[in-house]
Amino acid sequence: MQEAAPIGVFDSGYGGLTVLKELVAQLPEYDFMYLGDNARAPYGTRSFETVYQYTLDAVKWFFAQGCHLVMLACNTASAKALRSIQQNDLPTLAPDKRVLGVIRPSTEIIGQYSETNEIGILATKGTVASNSYPIEIEKFFPAITVYQEACPMWVPIIENNEMDNVGTHHFIKKNLHHLFQKGDNIDVVLLACTHYPLMRKQIEEYLPVAVKLLSQGEIVARSLADYLKRHPEMDEKCRKTGQLTFFTTDATEDFDEKGSAFFGQALASQHVSL
Ligand code: DGL
Repeated sequence: MQEAAPIGVFDSGYGGLTVLKELVAQLPEYDFMYLGDNARAPYGTRSFETVYQYTLDAVKWFFAQGCHLVMLACNTASAKALRSIQQNDLPTLAPDKRVLGVIRPSTEIIGQYSETNEIGILATKGTVASNSYPIEIEKFFPAITVYQEACPMWVPIIENNEMDNVGTHHFIKKNLHHLFQKGDNIDVVLLACTHYPLMRKQIEEYLPVAVKLLSQGEIVARSLADYLKRHPEMDEKCRKTGQLTFFTTDATEDFDEKGSAFFGQALASQHVSL
């Protein structure tokens, strides 16, 4: 049998830490290895080809560390790179390893929350342009209409800890106004970027009270727990000593400082080059 290894968790930078936080809460006995490609972030504004190449580099790095299972805890990478990696790269690169994303777990359940059959997606430009959310939601809930709004200012605002700045409120109001102009019956809004939960409080201020605001961390963690139950052959290959390790492609001091806000507790990262 192959040696058990941590589950890899990948994001362009810090956002995936909001997902990791929930993974650790729901699967505390598992080992996780987090990689933030901070040196090449943001991904949200980059082309399909670039996001695919960067994500593939990261997946290969996790495989070289011995990981058997990798979670792309980044919507942009899940939207632009996951399918190609699963279909074109994995069969030759590592047929027994698996790479999962955050879009499928969210789209397969989101319809259960809506009574009006209108859903709003807030995401990066890249995720919106990929149309992954409307396409995937249509497969599970054909009666639902999906409205999307790209919020390109939100990631830099969050990374610079400017969530309470007056200028930030202008952008939150503007993006929500655009979204509800497109679909005035929306009753569920998904934060489809792993950064956005950090600004949840400020976003809620401008949402109609009847609208449910969903973040992905908990949904993705439940889905991974279910996946591991359904795939005991993979579960056996996931090490369970409760160890967490953090890697960044940029400066570790910055990662440790900003990352702790996303993860909700102190962390110590190591530098890696992809
Ligand atoms: N956190 C990433 C996501 O979920 C976006 C950040 C970026 O643009 O790199 O889409």
